[in-house]
Amino acid sequence: NTFCVIMAGGIGSRFWPLSKENRPKQFLDILGTGKTLIQQTYERILPLCPQENFYVVTNIEYKQTVLDQLPNLSPQQILTEPTRRNTAPCIAFANAHIKRKNPNALIIVAPSDHLITNEDVFRHNISDGLKFVEKEKALLTLGIKPHRPETGYGYIQITHDNQDNPVNFHPVKTFTEKPNLELAKVFFESGEFFWNSGIFIWSLNSIQDAFQKFLPDMHDLFENYSLAINTPDENKILSDTFLTCNSISIDYGIMEKAHNVYVQTVNFGWSDLGTWTSLFEHSQKDHNNNAIVSGKVLLYQSKDTVVHLPENKIAVIQGLENYIVVESEEALLICPKQNEQQIRQFVTDVKTEL
Ligand code: GDD
Ligand code: MG
Repeated sequence: NTFCVIMAGGIGSRFWPLSKENRPKQFLDILGTGKTLIQQTYERILPLCPQENFYVVTNIEYKQTVLDQLPNLSPQQILTEPTRRNTAPCIAFANAHIKRKNPNALIIVAPSDHLITNEDVFRHNISDGLKFVEKEKALLTLGIKPHRPETGYGYIQITHDNQDNPVNFHPVKTFTEKPNLELAKVFFESGEFFWNSGIFIWSLNSIQDAFQKFLPDMHDLFENYSLAINTPDENKILSDTFLTCNSISIDYGIMEKAHNVYVQTVNFGWSDLGTWTSLFEHSQKDHNNNAIVSGKVLLYQSKDTVVHLPENKIAVIQGLENYIVVESEEALLICPKQNEQQIRQFVTDVKTEL
């Protein structure tokens, strides 16, 4: 009765120019391993869940990409959203389908664009998590020990004496999605907080109850849609459902509010791979701490720089320190690493000015 929902409808704009609206990072082989991030996600979880119990939820414009990249899945397993509404509707949409197949389902919800280095430990942890939510009516999230005051994540507080709990399942005291920098620093320094990995485990029953309680309108819309699945009206009702429903993430919509949230503290080498710097951190470096992720590059008097070029492109770089150099088919970006948060802005400016 294990199901897996892969969320794959995000845009990932900070990886520009490699990622773009029509080619977000989950569909890229960012690390040059021969597999895209969504392919890695699927293969990582496949030993834990029957193939026919996978659902990939994505925007309608990525449907073909998903089918091309995950050819073992049938088109019925790709649930396509007519409109972007963030992750709460994405999860409600999958629930509507899972409910028809197995009302006693246990569900793994996975982002499609993360890097996990120790996959055996990951699978071990997920198996334990599944056993936990089978017994407890819990909304379980996997928590990572933070190593910097990152503002792009959710922060989970557990009580101090709970931290030594050998079982690694802790009731959550507070859940704060994307705090400002000041707050993130306080959280980080207190040592009481974990990052939300964005990987969730729960039973269909527990998550449905949470939707009913905290997002009741969305719950009703998708209950209604669920009745229309496989009827001639399905597409029309799906469009109406997405047009009508709020755009909100599962983190703001449910995890911050629910009282039965638990965190399983894990350590399997996790990165959101959200930015060029996080990619740099996870790539192999040369003796001057440069990471050439893709392309043929000669570096002189350069250090701490990350380079990503089309595979056969050649670059000669002299005198750069702490830079990002990325070329895609359409664009070239050169930017100091410390300013990478501005990339979102660059993307907007490129659209309006060029
Ligand atoms: N189907 C669908 N539809 N998927 C979506 C949508 C959508 O509208 N929006 C985002 N996703 C997918 C993304 O592709 C990604 O795989 C996953 O859902 C999470 O979305 P992000 O947009 O990447 O979220 P985030 O990184 O800002 O924050 C989340 O992840 C952090 C860890 O990486 C939160 O859960 C944070 O609390 C968490 O710390
Ligand atoms: Mg993310």
